[in-house]
Amino acid sequence: MRPQEIIAKKRDGKALSDADIGIFVDGLCGNGWADYQITALVMAMILQGLNRREQYSITKAMLHSGSIMDFSDIDAPKADKHSTGGVGDKTSLIIAPVAAACGIAVPMVSGRGLGHTGGTLDKLESIPGYNVNLSLSRLKSVMKACGFGLIGQTKQVAPADKKLYALRDATATVPYIPLIVASIMSKKLAEGLDALVLDVKTGSGAFIQKFSESKKLAQELCATGRSFGVSTEALVTDMSQPLGRFVGNSLEVYECIKILRGESDGSMKLTRDLSTELTAAMLVKCRIAKTVEKAKAKIETAISSGEALERFRKNIELQDGDPSICDSPDKLFAKGIKKVEVTAERSGYICAVDTFAVGIAVVTIGGGRVVAADGVDHAVGFECNVKVGDKVRKGAPLGYVHCRKISQANAISEKLKLAYKIGDTTPKTTKLIRAAV
Ligand code: URA
Repeated sequence: MRPQEIIAKKRDGKALSDADIGIFVDGLCGNGWADYQITALVMAMILQGLNRREQYSITKAMLHSGSIMDFSDIDAPKADKHSTGGVGDKTSLIIAPVAAACGIAVPMVSGRGLGHTGGTLDKLESIPGYNVNLSLSRLKSVMKACGFGLIGQTKQVAPADKKLYALRDATATVPYIPLIVASIMSKKLAEGLDALVLDVKTGSGAFIQKFSESKKLAQELCATGRSFGVSTEALVTDMSQPLGRFVGNSLEVYECIKILRGESDGSMKLTRDLSTELTAAMLVKCRIAKTVEKAKAKIETAISSGEALERFRKNIELQDGDPSICDSPDKLFAKGIKKVEVTAERSGYICAVDTFAVGIAVVTIGGGRVVAADGVDHAVGFECNVKVGDKVRKGAPLGYVHCRKISQANAISEKLKLAYKIGDTTPKTTKLIRAAV
């Protein structure tokens, strides 16, 4: 079938067969489809809709456009966590070593920050020397030695998604649930997992902000994961304020090391709590713990015994990084960085945060990317000590911009002040875990 026939079929509202979808995915991998034909079909898919069978079929075709990792010679359940992305969302760096310390093998393939959200690879690269570009055979040997490996997407992992995502990004066709599901799941299923836990964010810093839509995405991700025989669970979690104390790459690694050292304070509580919830779900899915409560007790021990920190230290060594940051996390604060206070405009209670605006403010001073090719300044960021529900006095700090030049802080201070809405009464509290699917 020629591309235009398949495009016409979807344009006219008909369901595509597995064969049609196979031709499309093969075509987008360099076999005969022009970019304009690919994007015409994608737009038709969005306007006419895709049913669950088509969603499954696209996921499968994209998954098989690359290779599926084989960790069958590692004698442990294989599981991963995937987050739809947020601001200050750093849980991967805690979950991977803690889950490994509890007996799970974690092959974590992560992404870079783009737009207002951060990315695990950028955070890891703020550890001096850390190498995220491992071959799949080296990833396996790292996993055998310390229980987990953290790498970027390789050419072998779902190459169809890499091409399609770039075209969707350039043609305003990213926000459509069946295509998001196919994109995320084709990459995650390529990890050859027994279990997958998804952290679907909702709220002002999430990529999908409306709770009902986030829940729908969670349900579709789970349905697809389960139809591939992977034990899948999703937590819909609150992203209506930055997670934890820091937003910004090396600052976030600092927060993770403090948590792994058992030295977290109140400002890091949400990071620790969310990491615990997600890791507990992984332990239960992998049958390492019978209940979430028992899983949480194991996680507590993995941290308090120092085992999780040791796993992280070993991983950093194996991935060419400087493990001494585990002993001296202060090394992650770069020399010459200035800390500039951002103060409250009035007295009252923090009742909401425009988390998207906080993420964009950090991007503005170089802490993230506008386009994929941009570089990142790992040292800059925002320290957000004040949380929703806290009482503030006029002129008291809402947080601190970590920057190289005062002019950077000046450029974003007003925006940060506006991002924090201050009212006269305490706001309704929002649960961290909004739903489990
Ligand atoms: N993240 C992905 O990996 N793919 C999407 O389509 C959207 C978010």
